[in-house]
Amino acid sequence: MKRKEYQQIIRPLLSDHRYRHSVNVAKEAVRLAKRYGADPEKAETAGILHDIMKDTGPADQLKIMERAGIVLTEVEQNAPKLWHAISGALYVERELGVHDREILDAIRYHTTGRVGMSLLERVIFVADFTSEERDYNGADGMRAAANVSLERAMLEGVTFTLRDLSARQKPIHPDTLATYNWMVLQSAGEKLKKEG
Ligand SMILES: [Fe+2]
Ligand SMILES: [Fe+2]
Repeated sequence: MKRKEYQQIIRPLLSDHRYRHSVNVAKEAVRLAKRYGADPEKAETAGILHDIMKDTGPADQLKIMERAGIVLTEVEQNAPKLWHAISGALYVERELGVHDREILDAIRYHTTGRVGMSLLERVIFVADFTSEERDYNGADGMRAAANVSLERAMLEGVTFTLRDLSARQKPIHPDTLATYNWMVLQSAGEKLKKEG
């Protein structure tokens, strides 16, 4: 399917704001994919679809996950904001017939991150922070980081998420913590290599 068709599919499922965000993330994902050597077409598809379930009610999302036999961990049960990544990847696979694992994983892990994220997963994770309409405190810093390296922007993004969640005393998903440690250790390793 082409971007136009996906746009038509997500339009009725999302608020105006979220729809615009999705189109912008797709655009930004294509830009980052070209810059860092990921597949621009896959980046566009994952970008446009990444928040497909974000405005769907919790009961419907739970139904999708239950039907797929997914058992949520205690942290996940208490973090409904994470659900749209899980239910979204399932919806895209089962209802839209997208079977490309890379695209599905980019959607699945766009909120938590995970250790060993693929290039495409990183592109979507970062594009979600740097899309055109984003205007949170630090958005321009994230955009600058994204133009230096995808990894630097990833680390900024994960740090932002950790800080935001802990400031609001919300549960932190183990995948997010593990991603943070993974990125920090990697960047420490890079520094050591440069200094050595
Ligand atoms: Fe999202
Ligand atoms: Fe998003």
